[in-house]
Formats: sequence, C-alpha cells, structure tokens
Amino acid sequence: MRLLIINGHVIDPSQNFAGSAEILIEDGRINTFAREGGINRTGADIIDAGGMWVVPGLIDIHTHLREPGFEHKETIRTGARAALKGGFTTVCAMPNTNPVNDNAGITEFILKMAQAEGNARVLPIGAVTKGQKGEELASLYAMREAGCIAFSDDGRPVASPVIMRRALEYAKGFDALIISHAEDPALADSGVMNEGLLSATLGLKGQPAVAEEVMIYRDIALAELTGGRLHIAHVSTKGGVRVIRQAKERGLKVTAETCPHYFSLTEDAVAGYNVNAKVNPPLRTAADVEAIKEGLRDGTIDVIATDHAPHGREKRTRQFDDAPSGISGLETALSLSLALAGEGVLTELELIGKLTQNPAGILRIDRGTLREGAEAELLIVDPQRRYVLDAEKMISRGKNTPFDGMELKGMVMKTVYGGKVLEWA
Ligand code: DOR
Repeated sequence: MRLLIINGHVIDPSQNFAGSAEILIEDGRINTFAREGGINRTGADIIDAGGMWVVPGLIDIHTHLREPGFEHKETIRTGARAALKGGFTTVCAMPNTNPVNDNAGITEFILKMAQAEGNARVLPIGAVTKGQKGEELASLYAMREAGCIAFSDDGRPVASPVIMRRALEYAKGFDALIISHAEDPALADSGVMNEGLLSATLGLKGQPAVAEEVMIYRDIALAELTGGRLHIAHVSTKGGVRVIRQAKERGLKVTAETCPHYFSLTEDAVAGYNVNAKVNPPLRTAADVEAIKEGLRDGTIDVIATDHAPHGREKRTRQFDDAPSGISGLETALSLSLALAGEGVLTELELIGKLTQNPAGILRIDRGTLREGAEAELLIVDPQRRYVLDAEKMISRGKNTPFDGMELKGMVMKTVYGGKVLEWA
C-alpha cells in the first residue's frame, strides 16, 4: 500500500507539531512526514483530508473488554472494533474478567483472541492480587512475561496498604506500573453516587469525595516509600487533583488519568435515577469538574482514558442501587474530549497528547506518533462534524451511556490501522 494523506491539519504531539503536512504511508509504516508537502503522488492512493485533523491512533490506558466471562457485555472482538471506531488503535484491557486475568494463561488467551480478530491492539493489564480479592499478590512477573503491560485491581481498590506496598515493591524489581483504583472502601461504604445534598434528596447512599482523596494520598505515600511506579486511574475529585499536584510538585513520579464523563457531566445526571449515569467513582459536583479541567490544563492529569465499562440488560433492568456501574465510553471519548480544546482548556497539541503521547510514555510503548518509521496508525477526524449519539448504533455491546440522544461534535471519519483504511462516515 502506498497511501498519501494531503491537505490535513496534522497534530502530532510526539513531534510537537500542529500544522499542514503531507504523510506518505508505505508498507504499513510512515514513510515520509513532509512539513513542506510536495510528496511525489505517483502510484499512491490519495486521501484528501481538507478541513480534517490528522492525528496518531489514540491509546486508551483503561478499557474493560469483558472477555473471558462476560461476553454478553462485550467481547474482545466487539470492544476492539468499537475502539477503532472511536479512534483508539491501542487499548489496555483491565483484568476484572471471569476468570480474572491474574495468571499468564488468561493473559495469553486475551492476546491470542485479540490477535486473531485483528481489530485494535489489546494490551492486557494483569490483576495485582489473586482473583482481585486483595489478599495475595498475583504472579505479576509471569504475567509481565506473558505480555501484561501493567497491573491493577481496577473495579476494586487494593484495600490493604500492606498488599499495596508489597505490589509496588515487587513490581519495582522489573520496573512495572501499578494502576490504582483509588477508593477507600470503608469511607466509600458501597455508596452508589456522590455523597451530598442530591444523594440525600434521592435517598441513595452517597460515596464521599474524600474516599478517593484518602486513597490517592495513601498510594502516593507508598509509591514514595517504595520507589515504585504508580498511576492513578479515573480521578474524579478536586481533592484528588490537589493531592496529585502536590506529589508532582515534590518531584514524585506519579501519573494520573481522568475520563470524559468527569469533565463533561456532574452528579445532576443521576437525577431521575438515571442508571446510565451510575459509574464508579461517581459523577461529582461542578466544583470537581472545574478542578479536573484545571488539573488537565496544568498537567497534573496526564491522560484522558475512557474507563470503557460496557454492561448488558442487567444495567437497564435493575434498580439504581443494584445496577452495575460503568459507562460505555470508547465511541464518545474523542468527541467529548475535543470540547476541551473548543473551550480553551487545552490546546490541540495538549489534548491529543493526553490521548497519544502521554499514555504511550507511561506505558513505555513506541506508539501514538506519526514519526517517520513508525507503524502507520492514524485517524482522520472531522472536528466540526455534529451528530446526535444513538447508543443503539454503537459497535460496543454496551449501550450504557448517559450521552445517548445528545448532540456531540467531532467525529472520526477514518482509522488507518493494520495496513487498512477503515471508513466510518
Ligand atoms: O464504573 C465502573 N465500572 N468503575 C470501575 O471501576 C469498574 C467498571 C466496570 O468494570 O464495570
């Protein structure tokens, strides 16, 4: 394949470049990145990206693919396909499957399934503890050898500080990343939404913001003690942002992510017992949303991740209290994130960096770049295109999104991945 992309507005944070450029792809790799244009067109298929953004394939450090065990919610095939449609060419799959990805056999299964399907690249995340029970460390090194990119008990916190300390210490031995689902279980106390006036009005059990803040503080203290590499998942609170900012100011090597729903919605979305707005950590207040945006702006929050958490009928048919938490996010993340550039919270380069270069750096993978020689993984995005989200039309099996029926702006038109051009609109 000789594919030439012309007339696009190219944004590549890894080269600190935003402007017009031509890109020639040959044999699945970026052959030429020409800032001045003028690439020879002979024999090339041409994509005219006039009015479009051309950006590196996005990397999601936090996805739930549900296979093995919960295939009615999502499979590796449907999840990785939804990823490509949403612009993610690499996704990291959390281990809360059934069985849990807490051993090399499950890791190998996930990798084999993903490779056989040939959709987005799937990088498994192994569990920190056996069965995610928080009691005994899983075989982290063996899972790393089998292909795990990081370790997390996401979906649940590692409640015991002693186990978390051991995990950070042990993982440090082979420089592995531990991802913290920061929730103090005693403080969270099975709360199903943010604790405050609204939870009291709705008669729902609240989960206080401090449950997140306290756990982030604990894990940062343990990372400092051990020298281990720590990444904080789905930051949702003002206090959480503050603790991470202070840690970074002290020079600690902690990194953090937030998700589009934490800067796009407040707890008000739960009013009316809207189960699609039930997510863990819960949607918070307007002050938290502002703090998350400020954290993104000043670099406290490095990454935008989806926390794609697809669910099936059980999400729609159960009472709010009993329904599972989570938002199906792969196919809306880019549109929602683009709003941050529209509002002036982030520059185009910063925004795309939080979806490409920054997660690549944390994961230490050589992706999320349009540099010459890199594998050709990129998107053609129409930043102006408006559409009304129809959840039923999403590729993901999880139709659970609070954005259903809303007008969103910014659409992935094409994804170049695996030597193919996938057209979405
Ligand atoms: O809302 C959530 N859903 N939060 C998590 O941490 C886990 C996820 C899931 O697996 O459904």
